[in-house]
Amino acid sequence: MKKNTLILGIETSCDETGAAVYHQEFGLISHALFSQDHHKYFGGVIPELASRSQLEKIAIIVQHALHDANVSLQEIDAIAVTNKPGLAGSLLVGVCFAKALAWAENKKLIGVNHLEGHAFSPFLEHCVPFPHLSISASGGHTALYRIDGFGNFTLLGQTLDDAAGEAFDKVAKMMNYPYPGGPIIEKLAQEIHFSDTRSYPRPKEKTLNFSFSGLKTAVLYDLVDQGAYDLHAREFLRQEDHGLKQEVASSLLVCIGDIFEQKIALAYKQHQDIKAITLVGGVACNKYLRQRLSTWSNNHNLAFYAPSPQFCTDNGAMIALVGYHKALRGEFSDLLLDIFE
Ligand code: KG4
Ligand code: ZN
Repeated sequence: MKKNTLILGIETSCDETGAAVYHQEFGLISHALFSQDHHKYFGGVIPELASRSQLEKIAIIVQHALHDANVSLQEIDAIAVTNKPGLAGSLLVGVCFAKALAWAENKKLIGVNHLEGHAFSPFLEHCVPFPHLSISASGGHTALYRIDGFGNFTLLGQTLDDAAGEAFDKVAKMMNYPYPGGPIIEKLAQEIHFSDTRSYPRPKEKTLNFSFSGLKTAVLYDLVDQGAYDLHAREFLRQEDHGLKQEVASSLLVCIGDIFEQKIALAYKQHQDIKAITLVGGVACNKYLRQRLSTWSNNHNLAFYAPSPQFCTDNGAMIALVGYHKALRGEFSDLLLDIFE
């Protein structure tokens, strides 16, 4: 690879349109992001709306990233793009755009797995030692990895049903809060200092897989038992009861904190050679969960890293970074790059 290689990264897997430029010597030199917020009216991401919005924004966001990096498209060496997993319509926008640019400008193309992007996102700001364990949690996935180097990672466990972010989103929705639910759940929980008054059941499973749908159901039936939710009308009945909302939110968050800690502890028993823990993905914005895992890591003489919030949620920077490391290894894609698993 030539000195001072420049990689353009593009991310369009869900409801964020991201682009970034990564420089061999200086690291990330620009990143631009557009976050769609019309999904809040529907309680979740609507795929058709997401892809339409991706199409409207992609060109301008890529131009922004190039402009802020003060480089032209001609100076870019390779174009990295998220090609899986994600919403098909949204992914296609980024992949087709990247392919067209690569073809028209005769650039190399690099397909990047979105989850690999999240897994390496802490490297945008930190030099995390290998090997380490990483919990990756967002609205679409929850997984635990052992990471031995760039491009060298092993899936140790993943969710068998809902994602952690989905649990926050669905419980928030039960109490009539808009999507995404994570931030409001965190705010309510903080107001009562993260107390665990409802004690929702912790999963008994002693493997490294996760499961959050039972927890979501436990919250639902707790609300029903308290006369706060009408199952048939699917209606929250205690809109004015702020105390109840705080208790539910706080108990949910503490329970998810316990689950994360329990999985990390179990994985550490099996991987005693690891040097650090990372928390990545949209859920990693949560200060309580960061604190829980940071304290646990300190107590076990391990380093802890989580990206700053702008790199926890979906972004083009993590795709440019992984793209750069794939380029170093000569892992390029051809124009048949597809979005399927
Ligand atoms: O990574 P991301 O932007 O998109 C997906 O790939 O899903 O993550 C979005 C998820 C949503 O479920 C949202 O509720 C959650 O991240 N989230 C949070 C917080 N901020 C965002 N969850 C808990 N606490 C937060 N502060
Ligand atoms: Zn994501």
